[in-house]
Amino acid sequence: MKYSNPLFALPLLLPLISGYHRQRCAFGDSCWPSPEQWASFNSSISGRLIISLPSAAVCHREHYDAQLCQTATSNWTNSFWRTSQPGAYAAIVWELGQDQCFINTTIDAPCGPGLVAHYSVAAQDVTDIQAAVKFADHKDLYLVIKNTGHDHLGRSSGKGAFSIWTHNLKGREWHNAFVPKGSPNGRTGIPAVTLQAGEQWLDVYRDAAEHNVTVVGGQARTVGAAGGWATGGGHSPLAHFYGLGVDNILEVNLVTPLGEYKTLNKYNDPQYFYAVRGGGGSAWGVITSITYKTHPNPSHVQVGFAQFTTTSNSSFRTVLSHAFKALPRITDAGYTGYGAGDSGYLGLIFIQPNGTDETFRSAFAPLYEIANMTNVTGQIGSFDFPTWMDYLNTFLQDPNIATNVMDTSRLLTANVLLNQTEELLDLVQDYPEMGLGFNFIGKVNSAERDNTAVHDIWKHSRALFTMSVDWRDDAPEAEKKRLKLQAVEVSGRFAEIVGPDGGTYINEANPYEPNWQETFWGEKYERLMRIKRVVDPTNLFVCNRCVGTDIIYNP
Ligand SMILES: Cc1cc2nc3c(=O)[nH]c(=O)nc-3n(C[C@H](O)[C@H](O)[C@H](O)COP(=O)(O)OP(=O)(O)OC[C@H]3O[C@@H](n4cnc5c(N)ncnc54)[C@H](O)[C@@H]3O)c2cc1C
Ligand SMILES: *[C@@H]1O[C@H](CO)[C@@H](O)[C@H](O)[C@H]1NC(C)=O
Ligand SMILES: *[C@@H]1O[C@H](CO)[C@@H](O)[C@H](O)[C@H]1NC(C)=O
Ligand SMILES: *[C@@H]1O[C@H](CO)[C@@H](O)[C@H](O)[C@H]1NC(C)=O
Ligand SMILES: *[C@@H]1O[C@H](CO)[C@@H](O)[C@H](O)[C@H]1NC(C)=O
Ligand SMILES: *[C@@H]1O[C@H](CO)[C@@H](O)[C@H](O)[C@H]1NC(C)=O
Ligand SMILES: *[C@@H]1O[C@H](CO)[C@@H](O)[C@H](O)[C@H]1NC(C)=O
Ligand SMILES: *[C@@H]1O[C@H](CO)[C@@H](O)[C@H](O)[C@H]1NC(C)=O
Ligand SMILES: *[C@@H]1O[C@H](CO)[C@@H](O)[C@H](O)[C@H]1NC(C)=O
Ligand SMILES: *[C@@H]1O[C@H](CO)[C@@H](O)[C@H](O)[C@H]1NC(C)=O
Repeated sequence: MKYSNPLFALPLLLPLISGYHRQRCAFGDSCWPSPEQWASFNSSISGRLIISLPSAAVCHREHYDAQLCQTATSNWTNSFWRTSQPGAYAAIVWELGQDQCFINTTIDAPCGPGLVAHYSVAAQDVTDIQAAVKFADHKDLYLVIKNTGHDHLGRSSGKGAFSIWTHNLKGREWHNAFVPKGSPNGRTGIPAVTLQAGEQWLDVYRDAAEHNVTVVGGQARTVGAAGGWATGGGHSPLAHFYGLGVDNILEVNLVTPLGEYKTLNKYNDPQYFYAVRGGGGSAWGVITSITYKTHPNPSHVQVGFAQFTTTSNSSFRTVLSHAFKALPRITDAGYTGYGAGDSGYLGLIFIQPNGTDETFRSAFAPLYEIANMTNVTGQIGSFDFPTWMDYLNTFLQDPNIATNVMDTSRLLTANVLLNQTEELLDLVQDYPEMGLGFNFIGKVNSAERDNTAVHDIWKHSRALFTMSVDWRDDAPEAEKKRLKLQAVEVSGRFAEIVGPDGGTYINEANPYEPNWQETFWGEKYERLMRIKRVVDPTNLFVCNRCVGTDIIYNP
């Protein structure tokens, strides 16, 4: 057999899609609604239908606007500006596809629509979303959901599609004693916060600090707090203590594929609730708000850092080898971290709320050994921040905005880090062009794991290791294709290294992952498909490599 995909070996063979073939009408298709039908729909949603355009369109031809073009140019890599544009995406590749629309070319230069939806509903409330879902269903539209546009798998754009844009749904409600709807009588509430779908992490963190609590959220400023981050899992510097984002969800409100407004929690619909907690965005309906547990402020926040530069490839290999092997010990001691590297350089930071000098010295001893090696220059240290917000103000960034970065990744267990170090190092050495990243390092609290749809490998993983490619916007198509294929090749090598039980984090994965169902969800995919057939029987909600989809992008 050519495939080593264990799903093929299962007695219960699942079809790729949920069996229902829906027409997905896009702009330009004969089944696209008429201008009159659009006008009538627009008036039914108080005129909130907008044309969505690539982020540089205001600098070209019929859409040229000197003022807006100036704003776009000066804010091109600003994540706050970029995430507030209906047609802008963090990774330009998911905005433009193979079209051209550059910020720095002349007014007359081409500006294609790329992968941007043709129309978007700039939703202001739940009824706009219900109307949009029903219209999309009735007219068989190619429907996408866009929140911030941060997604790196192309799951929030779609060529000529009809988009529900959730960015303007703002609101945060803090609870001292939240009780999920339908809880058994006498249940006492717990501290929590309800976030509307368009909320973004920095705003939530600032407000949390005002309320003297912390929230498990992303290491990012503008990533959505209640969209793709949440439904995909949501890793956080607090995950060692409090689990992933999904583990902290108490309740979800959403508009179902049938257009109904529904509240999901563990009491009233455990199956549906399981699916949205890790089953990915744009597969289960449109989330309108999420209620998360909140947590007490730490007494202080300790940050440890380590940086190594080397003068030869062989010493870089040695540094990386020791770093991989040090991670189980560091993460056992409660540290969560992030890192980046490329040939010759490795930089790591680790965070521990309430961390002490004792835990630091013991956990970081292996890194001190690296710093003492021949041909290696190292800096290691730690410092404390008085509050969580002080840590965030210093370290929260949104890297790679307006680039074409494309990751390939795996969650690495202690076993892989310690026992397959050489295979990992060979892989790194075989692809010297690729950037190295630890998008997340940590041992996650997995007490809730079986109640969520995220891959079981999170129970054992210690680091999300990524290798990535990037290219200039105007690189030749052949060069882009070569790099995309290279990333897919690396995914194959990763799969061999981690074996059949391995997997990755769906939100930081390769967009062309070959065996995506098993790599993203493992054995849980089967259950997700059963739930998908019940809650979205006509398969309205789809996206690249999402549960039950028929939209599969190829390099
Ligand atoms: C700078 C940066 C930093 C990051 N940091 C972290 C991090 O610290 N931790 C982490 O876990 N991940 C991180 N990520 C990855 C992040 O989780 C994903 O990019 C995620 O897809 C973003 O979700 P979004 O809602 O902001 O983006 P979008 O691109 O708008 O949406 C992503 C997906 O969710 C769907 N979706 C969005 N809103 C809804 C909704 N209301 N209902 C249903 N489906 C919806 C979309 O259709 C799409 O499929 C980071 C990404 C970037 C670019
Ligand atoms: C929808 O209606 C509003 C208000 O009348 C109008 O400003 C807007 O241009 C319309 N949208 C489209 C796409 O025509
Ligand atoms: C765009 O950049 C300018 C400075 O160049 C700044 O004043 C403005 O606030 C930015 N706009 C947005 C929407 O971020
Ligand atoms: C937060 O703590 C400060 C200082 O102890 C206090 O003044 C403030 O009232 C608290 N805020 C809330 C919302 O509890
Ligand atoms: C840290 O210490 C504070 C204050 O003692 C405590 O409330 C909190 O639970 C501790 N743990 C974390 C992870 O913040
Ligand atoms: C290190 O490896 C890269 C890629 O294989 C190669 O181009 C470079 O020459 C090597 N550097 C040294 C100092 O050997
Ligand atoms: C240190 O680097 C030099 C060349 O830069 C190399 O010859 C030597 O083998 C290296 N030593 C070790 C221990 O890697
Ligand atoms: C590293 O070297 C320093 C002095 O250069 C020494 O004090 C320290 O003990 C060494 N650490 C290890 C782990 O070898
Ligand atoms: C590494 O492999 C050995 C031998 O197979 C095994 O005993 C050990 O448990 C493995 N280490 C981890 C962390 O799994
Ligand atoms: C325009 O920007 C792209 C990438 O953003 C870059 O590759 C290209 O060289 C730039 N062109 C000019 C004329 O500055």
